This record gives sequence, structure tokens and C-alpha cells, in this order.
Amino acid sequence: MSLNGPRLIAPHGGTLINRLNGSAEVRQRAAAASQVRLSEVSLSDLELIATGVVSPLTGFMGSADYESVVHKMHLTNGLPWTIPITLPVDADTAGKLAIGSDVALTDGDGKIVGLLELSEKFGYDKTVESEKVYRTTEAAHPGVARVLNQGDTYLAGPVWLFELPQPAFPDIYRTPEQTRALFAERGWRRIAAFQTRNPIHRAHEYLQKVALEMADGLMLHPLVGETKGDDVPANIRVESYKVILEKYYPAQRVVLTAFPAAMRYAGPREAIFHAIARKNYGCTHFIVGRDHAGVGNYYGTYDAQLIFDEFDPELIGIIPLMFEHAFYCNACGQIVTAKTCPHDKSNWLHLSGTQVRAKLTAGEPLPIEFTRPEVSEVLIRGMAQRGE
Ligand code: ADX
Repeated sequence: MSLNGPRLIAPHGGTLINRLNGSAEVRQRAAAASQVRLSEVSLSDLELIATGVVSPLTGFMGSADYESVVHKMHLTNGLPWTIPITLPVDADTAGKLAIGSDVALTDGDGKIVGLLELSEKFGYDKTVESEKVYRTTEAAHPGVARVLNQGDTYLAGPVWLFELPQPAFPDIYRTPEQTRALFAERGWRRIAAFQTRNPIHRAHEYLQKVALEMADGLMLHPLVGETKGDDVPANIRVESYKVILEKYYPAQRVVLTAFPAAMRYAGPREAIFHAIARKNYGCTHFIVGRDHAGVGNYYGTYDAQLIFDEFDPELIGIIPLMFEHAFYCNACGQIVTAKTCPHDKSNWLHLSGTQVRAKLTAGEPLPIEFTRPEVSEVLIRGMAQRGE
């Protein structure tokens, strides 16, 4: 069955990109080329490009696409795109590389993992990128901090990745080609994707299960790329997903798989990026709740939903499933939103991040209305391991 076949949603731009190539020819070209060492984020971006997660991109963006994405939220070919996928290096490194030449891309250990066919190198304005993409220029914003700390020149051009890197979580690793094959095999037509960088709390579970009522399958897609230091580490989160899935989710309708992207914390713009990436994985619907991909108070609670209005839904392709802030109401005895609950706020259970951390550090489980006990247990163990 064709992976782009009639039963599955088309990838962004129509073709699922595959830039994996470990042939002797490509390896020899790389061995003879100047080397550039990639950061963890750039390595992750390389993997996203190579496996089609960011189709239709075939490499790191050139200046025309970059400018168009930053200022117009579209690629030059007219497709929606909100996050620059770029390769920053310092000016010295860039100065030694000739346009039109091959560049060997290495990992943190200096091992060559792929090849860039250098078509362009260009300077960019960090303030403008921060303001446009993150809606702030404050260095306290983790996405802005990354931009400020990275090199001043972007290298651009098509890439090849020799082989898939060893995944951090091999048992839940799937490329877009593999999730598409799985959906086709299971006969799923409507697939709802859930992005997360947190353990699954009851509100998340509510969103996921409401979405599943309307879909054939649910793809739980925790981000396992780089996150900021105080987010719960991916290994603890993955363990919490496994324990909750085993006990409270129908195995035949749910697939847990890792999203190897780095977190940008770009709120609204990242919601569009997250949605398009999940379309490339073959999903037809994408859950967007409160403050999606947000951090601090940089974005309005529903900005990540409102931004979808700025795009042609046909071009986005995947359908956003918007949810209001969900929480437990004592009077209703269930998870609700302000839309579905008639009761006074005094009935609503809210725990701040600080309260959650304090309880877990003290070895106390979170209230069952907030978090399943099995998840609390994993989180308490995780906290103890981190020595917090
Ligand atoms: S995110 O950075 O990946 O967005 P998180 O893992 O907290 O962070 O959220 C995953 C998804 O669930 C996002 O779409 C977010 O908007 C949504 N979400 C998280 N908590 C709630 C909540 N209490 N009510 C409604 N939506 C929520």
C-alpha cells in the first residue's frame, strides 16, 4: 500500500521527504569535506528533515524561505510554515566554507553523520527573529535565549543523513513512514495526535479521550528532544506514559511514540509547526489546548488556537481540535471546562507547578483527581533520583 495512498492524509506539500542516504558515494564525499559540528538541536533538526517530519523541507532553510517564514509564516512556495529550520554556525566557521561545496556534519563526538550541500550562508537579525517567532526579545524566554546564544550565520542547503541515530527510546521510536504504515495496517482513517512535554495528568487524559471518541486512533506523541532544564526529564515522562497506558487506555486504539524534536516554546507558532509535523506522521487531527507550547506568561491562554485563523485550513490540512482549560470540579465529580461546568470556582481543583513539585518532593502523591496514582508514583521516584 502506498504510504501517501488515498486512505492517508497527504504530507505537507504532497510528498513525504526521505533524506536518508548512507551510500558509499555520499560517505566518501563527506569524508573529503570540511566538517561542522552540530548542536543537539541541529542534530535533531537534521533527523526531522531526513525522516520527513518537516516535509517538504529537504535541508536547512535558505534566506528566501527564512525571511518568508519569519515575516509571513509561509514558505516561498506558499505553504504555511512558522518556525525557521536553520543551521547556525559562528562567522569564523562559515568563512571557511565555500558555497557549492560539501560540508560534513558531525555529532557531538565528532563522528560524521551526514552531508550538507552548501547552497548559501547568510547573516540574520536575532532581534527580529525573536520578536517575530517568539513574540518577545527577552533573554529569559528559553527559545530567545537559544537564538541569542547561537552562531551569527546560517548555513543552508539540502542534507543527507547517513542513518537514523540511536533513538533515546528505541521501543517507542517511529518515523513518519512507520506511523503511516501502522495507521494503514490498522485501518485507521481519523487519527488524533497529542503533543506533550509533560507527564499525563487527568486533564490531558480528558482531552485525549474526548478526541478519541471522535477518531479511530490516538497518537500520543511526547516530545523527547531538548527541553528546558526544569521540565520533567523525558525518561521519567516516558515511564509515566507507559504505566498509565497499560492501565487506563485501550491498547488497540492508542499508539505511544516519541517526537524527536527540540522544544522551542514558541507558543502559537509552535502549535502550527507541531500540527504540520503530525500531519506528516499521518494524523488527521491535532489537539490544541490551553497555552500550547507556551512558557511563562509570554502568550495568551488561547493564542495557540487563534493563530489557526490566520491560515487557509486547506493548506494546513490537519484539523485542530481546540480545548478550553480543563480541570476537576468537585461538584461535577469529573474533569470539566468553564464551557461545560455551571459551578462556582470554589469547586474547581487547581494546583500550581510549585505546589505539584512541593508534594512530589515530599514523597506525597498528587490528588487522584489531578494525577493517576501510578503516574504520581513514577514522578515521586523521578524527583528522588534527581535529588530535588
Ligand atoms: S506543551 O508544551 O507540549 O503544549 P503540555 O504537555 O503541558 O505542554 O500540553 C500538551 C497539550 O495539552 C497542549 O495542547 C496543551 O495546550 C494541552 N493542555 C495541557 N494542560 C491542559 C489543561 N489543563 N487544559 C486544557 N489543555 C491542556
